[in-house]
Amino acid sequence: MATIHIDETRPLGRIAPEIYGHFSEHLGRCIYEGIFVKPDSGIPNVNGMRTDVVEALKEIRVPVLRWPGGCFADEYHWKDGVGPLESRKRMVNTHWGGVVEDNSFGTHEFFELCRQLGCKTYVNGNVGSGTVQEMSEWVEYMTFDGVSPMAEMRARNGHREPWKVDYFGVGNENWGCGGNMTPTYYANLYRRYQTYVRHYDHAAPIQKICGGPNADDVKWTKKVLKTCFAHPQPEDAHGFMDGLSLHYYVFPGGWQNKGSATVFTEEEWYTTIQKALYMEELINLHGGVMDKYDPEKKIGLIVDEWGVWHEVEPGTNPGFLYQQNTMRDALVAAVTLNIFNNHCDRVKMACIAQMVNVLQSVLLTEGPRMIKTPTWHVFHMYRDHQGAQALTVTAEDVGTAGGEAMPAVQVSASKAEDGVITVTAANLSMTESQTVRLALTARKPEKASGTLLAGEAHLHNTFDEPEAVKEQTLAVTLTENGAEFTLPPCGVASVRLA
Ligand code: AHR
Repeated sequence: MATIHIDETRPLGRIAPEIYGHFSEHLGRCIYEGIFVKPDSGIPNVNGMRTDVVEALKEIRVPVLRWPGGCFADEYHWKDGVGPLESRKRMVNTHWGGVVEDNSFGTHEFFELCRQLGCKTYVNGNVGSGTVQEMSEWVEYMTFDGVSPMAEMRARNGHREPWKVDYFGVGNENWGCGGNMTPTYYANLYRRYQTYVRHYDHAAPIQKICGGPNADDVKWTKKVLKTCFAHPQPEDAHGFMDGLSLHYYVFPGGWQNKGSATVFTEEEWYTTIQKALYMEELINLHGGVMDKYDPEKKIGLIVDEWGVWHEVEPGTNPGFLYQQNTMRDALVAAVTLNIFNNHCDRVKMACIAQMVNVLQSVLLTEGPRMIKTPTWHVFHMYRDHQGAQALTVTAEDVGTAGGEAMPAVQVSASKAEDGVITVTAANLSMTESQTVRLALTARKPEKASGTLLAGEAHLHNTFDEPEAVKEQTLAVTLTENGAEFTLPPCGVASVRLA
């Protein structure tokens, strides 16, 4: 039997709600169709935002949304996407499928979406093909409350009040699609561009995110921090940056031969889960470099792109990155979010890629229909971790799965302000169920309840069978110092102890 000791006397820090963030790019059917629909679409919407999608996203309490890319960000010229619709530029989305981008979803529409979701805003600027002036004018357009050319343009375009930009990314993947730069070259550009990301609202300064490494590229982290890290000045809370990004995707069969989302072997199940567990090593690797500059952990590691990347669904545009989502993806989400919770002292935000219809999405749409994926359910089951205090968990006798490759059960725990403890546990075995005993070190719970997401590894929701995978009640028994439950293979549990 696996025993998980949960120590309330050793809190790890606050789990930033933004760890449960999302990413939406002008890519395939994420923005257009997935979120934003034309007035004549016949799909219920509010100001173009699909009502079904917004409602489903509100249920998982989306805390922050990153936009407009991704690789698209370094090709995006924001002025093309503001002003009267009929005069917005039409362009080809060269990076993603070569389709026409009509710029009908632009800055105003993004802020409207975030307003409807009630979430924070994370705008990603263009360093690869944009100028400092363009970036600084965008920040002025969005946030300046006074007399200026950009503030007046915003008012002419229908929005007198400035918006709040919570986070601003200075470029995206500038080691790759964002300009193929060397770390030192990017780092110098970063110093320059970020200077003009002005804090017009001093009471709510914009958090600046510096473009960080791809996966284990620690050389990038070292060189960028060496050039960009500056000790905080009185006028700037964290010097030149508030966060350093990290991108890590799980490619089950590698980049060349990623493999199908729905057809996979037992061996591929374990390879995928093992690659998801690797996130912890990456946090330790890059976090270790950050510790040298920032031992007080004021700068966040911002994992603003993560998730599983499979082959596209057969018959769909290869440039649209549309993939299905099974219990295997749910387990990757569960494992990754547990890792983020356990490293909440350094990981301050994370955005799963991507929100709707692209890569590891929480929602899929087809015309007027929408389904929730198993990954949506994991975000739903983990929502009480947002803003809670992470607790130290120690595992005893958890056994192994996939041969000796990994622990059979992986967990995280947190305590909310009302004292309720949430424990989320993932059974990494594809075939064996596990009995899990939770042992609290500091008290005896009076009440226990649980939710379970389980099913055969390949199970997924379809438009004809939208509830093949759904949350169920988990039977949890109170014990002397905690609770006990059975976790089926490929299962994810969320247990609440009061
Ligand atoms: O999420 C898809 C792409 O993956 C993003 O545009 C890019 O940043 C990353 O390589």
